[in-house]
Amino acid sequence: MAIKKIGVLTSGGDAPGMNAAIRAVVRTALNRGLEVVAVYGGYDGLINGDIRPMNLRSVSNIINRGGTMLYSARSPEFRTEAGMQKAISQCLKHDIEGLVVIGGDGSFRGAQDLTRRGFPCIGIPGTIDNDISCCEHTIGYDTALNTCMDLCDKLRDTMASHGRCSVVEVMGRHAGYIALNVGIAIGATGIVVPEVEFDFDRDVIQRIEQARATGKNDFIIVVAEGIGRVEEMAKEIQKRTGIDTRASILGHVQRGGTPTLYDRVLASRMGAYAVQLLLDGKSNRVVAEQNGNLVDFDIEEALAMKKTLDMDLYNMALEISI
Ligand code: F6P
Repeated sequence: MAIKKIGVLTSGGDAPGMNAAIRAVVRTALNRGLEVVAVYGGYDGLINGDIRPMNLRSVSNIINRGGTMLYSARSPEFRTEAGMQKAISQCLKHDIEGLVVIGGDGSFRGAQDLTRRGFPCIGIPGTIDNDISCCEHTIGYDTALNTCMDLCDKLRDTMASHGRCSVVEVMGRHAGYIALNVGIAIGATGIVVPEVEFDFDRDVIQRIEQARATGKNDFIIVVAEGIGRVEEMAKEIQKRTGIDTRASILGHVQRGGTPTLYDRVLASRMGAYAVQLLLDGKSNRVVAEQNGNLVDFDIEEALAMKKTLDMDLYNMALEISI
Protein backbone atom coordinates (compact mmCIF):
# COMPACT_ATOMS: atom_id res chain seq x y z
CA MET A 1 0.00 0.00 0.00
CA ALA A 2 1.31 3.46 -0.92
CA ILE A 3 2.56 5.59 1.96
CA LYS A 4 0.67 8.74 2.92
CA LYS A 5 2.82 10.48 5.49
CA ILE A 6 6.57 10.84 5.98
CA GLY A 7 8.90 12.52 8.45
CA VAL A 8 12.26 14.21 8.05
CA LEU A 9 15.01 14.81 10.61
CA THR A 10 18.64 15.92 10.79
CA SER A 11 21.07 14.08 13.04
CA GLY A 12 24.73 14.18 14.10
CA GLY A 13 27.00 17.14 13.32
CA ASP A 14 25.18 19.78 11.27
CA ALA A 15 26.40 20.66 7.77
CA PRO A 16 25.72 23.60 5.45
CA GLY A 17 23.13 22.49 2.89
CA MET A 18 21.04 20.44 5.33
CA ASN A 19 18.33 23.10 5.09
CA ALA A 20 18.26 22.77 1.32
CA ALA A 21 17.77 19.02 1.72
CA ILE A 22 14.94 19.50 4.24
CA ARG A 23 13.26 21.94 1.86
CA ALA A 24 13.52 19.50 -1.04
CA VAL A 25 12.13 16.61 1.03
CA VAL A 26 9.19 18.67 2.28
CA ARG A 27 8.29 20.22 -1.06
CA THR A 28 8.73 17.04 -3.13
CA ALA A 29 6.57 15.08 -0.71
CA LEU A 30 3.83 17.71 -0.49
CA ASN A 31 3.76 18.25 -4.25
CA ARG A 32 3.32 14.50 -4.74
CA GLY A 33 0.38 14.31 -2.37
CA LEU A 34 2.07 13.14 0.83
CA GLU A 35 1.72 14.68 4.27
CA VAL A 36 5.04 15.69 5.84
CA VAL A 37 6.09 16.22 9.43
CA ALA A 38 9.41 17.52 10.71
CA VAL A 39 11.12 15.93 13.69
CA TYR A 40 13.00 18.57 15.71
CA GLY A 41 16.26 17.71 17.50
CA GLY A 42 17.30 14.53 15.68
CA TYR A 43 16.50 11.11 17.16
CA ASP A 44 15.98 12.74 20.60
CA GLY A 45 13.10 14.67 19.04
CA LEU A 46 11.65 11.43 17.71
CA ILE A 47 11.83 9.86 21.18
CA ASN A 48 10.24 12.91 22.83
CA GLY A 49 7.63 13.46 20.14
CA ASP A 50 8.85 16.89 19.04
CA ILE A 51 7.08 16.44 15.71
CA ARG A 52 5.34 19.21 13.76
CA PRO A 53 3.40 19.32 10.48
CA MET A 54 5.06 21.08 7.53
CA ASN A 55 3.56 22.99 4.63
CA LEU A 56 5.11 24.52 1.51
CA ARG A 57 5.84 27.77 3.35
CA SER A 58 7.43 26.08 6.41
CA VAL A 59 10.63 25.76 4.39
CA SER A 60 10.65 29.18 2.69
CA ASN A 61 13.91 31.14 2.74
CA ILE A 62 16.02 28.41 4.29
CA ILE A 63 17.93 27.20 1.21
CA ASN A 64 20.53 29.93 1.76
CA ARG A 65 21.00 29.32 5.50
CA GLY A 66 23.71 27.24 7.16
CA GLY A 67 22.98 24.92 10.09
CA THR A 68 19.70 23.04 10.24
CA MET A 69 16.29 24.55 11.00
CA LEU A 70 15.32 21.19 12.56
CA TYR A 71 18.24 21.29 15.03
CA SER A 72 20.50 18.30 15.41
CA ALA A 73 21.81 16.03 18.15
CA ARG A 74 23.78 12.88 18.75
CA SER A 75 21.34 10.75 20.78
CA PRO A 76 22.76 8.15 23.23
CA GLU A 77 19.16 7.23 24.28
CA PHE A 78 18.24 6.22 20.74
CA ARG A 79 20.97 3.56 20.85
CA THR A 80 19.14 1.80 23.69
CA GLU A 81 16.23 -0.61 23.06
CA ALA A 82 13.98 1.50 25.32
CA GLY A 83 14.80 4.66 23.34
CA MET A 84 14.19 2.88 20.05
CA GLN A 85 10.80 1.62 21.23
CA LYS A 86 9.79 5.13 22.33
CA ALA A 87 10.77 6.44 18.88
CA ILE A 88 8.72 3.76 17.14
CA SER A 89 5.64 4.45 19.26
CA GLN A 90 5.92 8.16 18.39
CA CYS A 91 6.00 7.25 14.68
CA LEU A 92 2.89 5.10 15.13
CA LYS A 93 1.15 7.82 17.15
CA HIS A 94 1.81 10.39 14.39
CA ASP A 95 1.02 7.96 11.53
CA ILE A 96 4.51 8.42 10.07
CA GLU A 97 5.10 5.67 7.52
CA GLY A 98 8.58 6.57 6.29
CA LEU A 99 11.47 8.69 7.53
CA VAL A 100 14.22 10.62 5.74
CA VAL A 101 17.33 10.93 7.92
CA ILE A 102 19.90 13.56 6.94
CA GLY A 103 23.26 12.99 8.64
CA GLY A 104 26.45 10.96 8.74
CA ASP A 105 27.23 7.28 9.28
CA GLY A 106 26.11 7.29 12.95
CA SER A 107 22.73 8.62 11.82
CA PHE A 108 22.49 5.89 9.18
CA ARG A 109 23.07 3.20 11.81
CA GLY A 110 20.01 4.60 13.63
CA ALA A 111 18.03 4.55 10.38
CA GLN A 112 19.08 0.94 9.82
CA ASP A 113 17.96 -0.05 13.33
CA LEU A 114 14.57 1.55 12.71
CA THR A 115 14.18 -0.20 9.34
CA ARG A 116 15.05 -3.54 10.95
CA ARG A 117 12.07 -3.00 13.25
CA GLY A 118 9.81 -2.57 10.26
CA PHE A 119 10.03 1.19 9.88
CA PRO A 120 11.14 2.38 6.37
CA CYS A 121 14.04 4.87 6.41
CA ILE A 122 16.16 6.57 3.75
CA GLY A 123 19.51 8.22 4.56
CA ILE A 124 20.89 11.37 2.95
CA PRO A 125 24.62 12.00 3.55
CA GLY A 126 25.06 15.33 5.29
CA THR A 127 28.49 15.84 6.84
CA ILE A 128 31.38 18.20 6.19
CA ASP A 129 33.83 15.29 6.61
CA ASN A 130 32.98 13.63 3.25
CA ASP A 131 33.60 10.29 4.93
CA ILE A 132 30.62 8.35 3.55
CA SER A 133 32.29 5.69 1.42
CA CYS A 134 29.63 5.21 -1.26
CA CYS A 135 29.31 8.93 -1.92
CA GLU A 136 31.80 11.17 -3.74
CA HIS A 137 30.52 14.43 -2.24
CA THR A 138 28.48 14.71 0.95
CA ILE A 139 26.28 17.71 1.70
CA GLY A 140 28.31 20.43 3.45
CA TYR A 141 31.73 19.27 2.30
CA ASP A 142 32.08 21.82 -0.50
CA THR A 143 31.06 24.69 1.76
CA ALA A 144 33.47 23.56 4.49
CA LEU A 145 36.31 23.33 1.93
CA ASN A 146 35.66 26.88 0.81
CA THR A 147 35.40 28.15 4.38
CA CYS A 148 38.70 26.51 5.31
CA MET A 149 40.36 27.81 2.16
CA ASP A 150 39.22 31.33 2.95
CA LEU A 151 40.47 31.12 6.55
CA CYS A 152 43.83 29.70 5.46
CA ASP A 153 44.17 32.47 2.84
CA LYS A 154 43.73 34.95 5.68
CA LEU A 155 46.37 33.16 7.71
CA ARG A 156 48.66 33.30 4.68
CA ASP A 157 48.44 37.10 4.59
CA THR A 158 49.67 37.50 8.11
CA MET A 159 52.22 34.65 7.89
CA ALA A 160 53.69 36.26 4.76
CA SER A 161 53.88 39.72 6.37
CA HIS A 162 55.86 38.33 9.30
CA GLY A 163 57.81 35.56 7.58
CA ARG A 164 56.21 32.97 9.85
CA CYS A 165 54.98 29.39 9.73
CA SER A 166 51.40 28.40 10.53
CA VAL A 167 50.29 24.92 11.56
CA VAL A 168 46.54 24.69 10.94
CA GLU A 169 44.21 21.95 12.11
CA VAL A 170 41.12 21.35 9.97
CA MET A 171 38.16 19.08 10.74
CA GLY A 172 37.37 15.70 9.18
CA ARG A 173 37.13 13.34 12.16
CA HIS A 174 39.16 10.28 10.99
CA ALA A 175 39.32 11.38 7.35
CA GLY A 176 41.81 13.62 5.54
CA TYR A 177 39.66 14.84 2.61
CA ILE A 178 39.29 18.39 3.90
CA ALA A 179 43.00 18.60 4.78
CA LEU A 180 44.18 17.29 1.41
CA ASN A 181 41.96 19.47 -0.76
CA VAL A 182 42.38 22.60 1.32
CA GLY A 183 46.13 21.94 1.41
CA ILE A 184 46.23 21.89 -2.39
CA ALA A 185 44.01 24.96 -2.73
CA ILE A 186 46.08 27.13 -0.39
CA GLY A 187 49.51 25.86 -1.46
CA ALA A 188 50.41 24.29 1.88
CA THR A 189 54.07 23.32 2.25
CA GLY A 190 52.99 20.19 4.15
CA ILE A 191 49.74 18.22 4.35
CA VAL A 192 49.29 15.74 7.20
CA VAL A 193 46.42 13.24 6.94
CA PRO A 194 45.53 10.09 8.90
CA GLU A 195 45.44 7.93 5.75
CA VAL A 196 49.19 8.34 5.15
CA GLU A 197 51.88 7.24 7.58
CA PHE A 198 53.29 10.37 9.20
CA ASP A 199 56.96 11.15 9.67
CA PHE A 200 57.43 14.58 11.27
CA ASP A 201 61.00 15.03 9.99
CA ARG A 202 60.23 14.01 6.41
CA ASP A 203 56.73 15.50 6.07
CA VAL A 204 57.21 18.76 7.94
CA ILE A 205 60.77 19.79 8.84
CA GLN A 206 62.45 18.67 5.60
CA ARG A 207 59.71 20.19 3.46
CA ILE A 208 59.98 23.54 5.22
CA GLU A 209 63.79 23.47 4.88
CA GLN A 210 63.57 22.52 1.20
CA ALA A 211 61.17 25.38 0.48
CA ARG A 212 63.26 27.83 2.54
CA ALA A 213 66.38 26.85 0.57
CA THR A 214 64.64 28.04 -2.62
CA GLY A 215 63.75 31.40 -1.08
CA LYS A 216 60.35 30.77 0.47
CA ASN A 217 59.73 32.87 3.51
CA ASP A 218 56.32 31.83 4.90
CA PHE A 219 54.83 28.38 5.35
CA ILE A 220 51.52 26.70 6.07
CA ILE A 221 51.25 23.10 7.25
CA VAL A 222 47.68 21.75 7.09
CA VAL A 223 46.97 18.99 9.61
CA ALA A 224 43.82 16.85 9.71
CA GLU A 225 42.16 16.63 13.13
CA GLY A 226 42.65 12.86 13.06
CA ILE A 227 46.36 13.64 13.59
CA GLY A 228 45.97 16.78 15.77
CA ARG A 229 48.87 17.89 18.03
CA VAL A 230 49.27 21.20 16.18
CA GLU A 231 50.52 23.11 19.28
CA GLU A 232 53.22 20.51 19.84
CA MET A 233 54.20 20.57 16.15
CA ALA A 234 54.39 24.37 16.11
CA LYS A 235 56.78 24.39 19.09
CA GLU A 236 58.95 21.72 17.50
CA ILE A 237 59.09 23.54 14.13
CA GLN A 238 60.15 26.75 15.87
CA LYS A 239 62.80 24.92 17.88
CA ARG A 240 64.22 23.00 14.93
CA THR A 241 64.08 25.69 12.21
CA GLY A 242 64.16 28.94 14.15
CA ILE A 243 61.08 30.10 12.19
CA ASP A 244 58.50 31.94 14.28
CA THR A 245 55.56 29.46 14.24
CA ARG A 246 51.91 29.65 15.33
CA ALA A 247 49.26 26.94 15.71
CA SER A 248 45.57 27.43 14.82
CA ILE A 249 42.67 25.06 15.28
CA LEU A 250 39.91 26.23 12.93
CA GLY A 251 37.22 24.37 14.90
CA HIS A 252 33.45 24.66 14.50
CA VAL A 253 33.58 27.77 12.34
CA GLN A 254 34.15 25.22 9.55
CA ARG A 255 30.65 23.80 10.05
CA GLY A 256 28.78 27.08 9.68
CA GLY A 257 28.04 29.61 6.99
CA THR A 258 26.06 30.05 3.83
CA PRO A 259 26.06 26.85 1.74
CA THR A 260 27.77 27.04 -1.64
CA LEU A 261 25.80 26.65 -4.85
CA TYR A 262 27.19 23.14 -5.18
CA ASP A 263 25.90 22.08 -1.77
CA ARG A 264 22.48 23.67 -2.32
CA VAL A 265 21.98 21.88 -5.64
CA LEU A 266 23.34 18.55 -4.38
CA ALA A 267 21.14 18.72 -1.27
CA SER A 268 18.06 19.62 -3.32
CA ARG A 269 18.64 16.71 -5.69
CA MET A 270 19.24 14.27 -2.83
CA GLY A 271 16.12 15.41 -0.95
CA ALA A 272 13.88 14.89 -3.97
CA TYR A 273 15.53 11.53 -4.73
CA ALA A 274 14.99 10.28 -1.17
CA VAL A 275 11.25 11.01 -1.31
CA GLN A 276 10.97 9.19 -4.63
CA LEU A 277 12.65 6.13 -3.06
CA LEU A 278 10.00 6.07 -0.32
CA LEU A 279 7.25 6.50 -2.90
CA ASP A 280 8.73 3.56 -4.83
CA GLY A 281 8.38 1.45 -1.69
CA LYS A 282 12.14 1.33 -1.00
CA SER A 283 13.66 1.46 2.47
CA ASN A 284 17.02 1.08 4.20
CA ARG A 285 18.75 2.95 1.35
CA VAL A 286 21.42 5.68 1.38
CA VAL A 287 21.35 8.25 -1.40
CA ALA A 288 24.79 8.80 -2.92
CA GLU A 289 26.43 10.85 -5.64
CA GLN A 290 28.79 9.10 -8.07
CA ASN A 291 30.23 10.73 -11.20
CA GLY A 292 27.61 13.46 -10.88
CA ASN A 293 24.68 11.00 -10.85
CA LEU A 294 22.50 10.07 -7.89
CA VAL A 295 22.36 6.40 -6.97
CA ASP A 296 21.33 4.51 -3.83
CA PHE A 297 22.78 1.71 -1.73
CA ASP A 298 21.58 -0.60 0.98
CA ILE A 299 22.59 1.09 4.27
CA GLU A 300 24.43 -1.97 5.54
CA GLU A 301 26.36 -2.28 2.29
CA ALA A 302 27.13 1.47 2.35
CA LEU A 303 28.42 1.34 5.92
CA ALA A 304 30.68 -1.61 5.13
CA MET A 305 32.41 0.15 2.20
CA LYS A 306 35.89 1.62 2.68
CA LYS A 307 36.74 5.04 1.30
CA THR A 308 40.34 5.62 0.35
CA LEU A 309 42.24 8.84 -0.13
CA ASP A 310 43.30 9.59 -3.69
CA MET A 311 47.05 8.96 -3.41
CA ASP A 312 47.76 10.38 -6.88
CA LEU A 313 46.21 13.63 -5.72
CA TYR A 314 48.21 13.50 -2.49
CA ASN A 315 51.49 12.90 -4.33
CA MET A 316 50.72 15.65 -6.84
CA ALA A 317 50.04 18.02 -3.94
CA LEU A 318 53.45 17.28 -2.43
CA GLU A 319 55.21 17.76 -5.75
CA ILE A 320 53.71 21.13 -6.60
CA SER A 321 53.80 22.72 -3.15
CA ILE A 322 57.55 23.36 -3.01
O1 F6P B 1 31.38 15.13 11.72
C1 F6P B 1 31.51 16.51 11.69
C2 F6P B 1 32.48 16.98 12.74
O2 F6P B 1 32.55 18.39 12.68
C3 F6P B 1 33.87 16.37 12.68
O3 F6P B 1 34.68 16.98 11.70
C4 F6P B 1 34.36 16.57 14.08
O4 F6P B 1 35.30 15.58 14.42
C5 F6P B 1 33.11 16.42 14.90
O5 F6P B 1 32.02 16.62 14.02
C6 F6P B 1 33.00 17.39 16.05
O6 F6P B 1 31.89 17.02 16.78
P1 F6P B 1 31.19 17.97 17.86
O7 F6P B 1 30.41 19.00 17.11
O8 F6P B 1 30.30 17.05 18.63
O9 F6P B 1 32.26 18.61 18.67
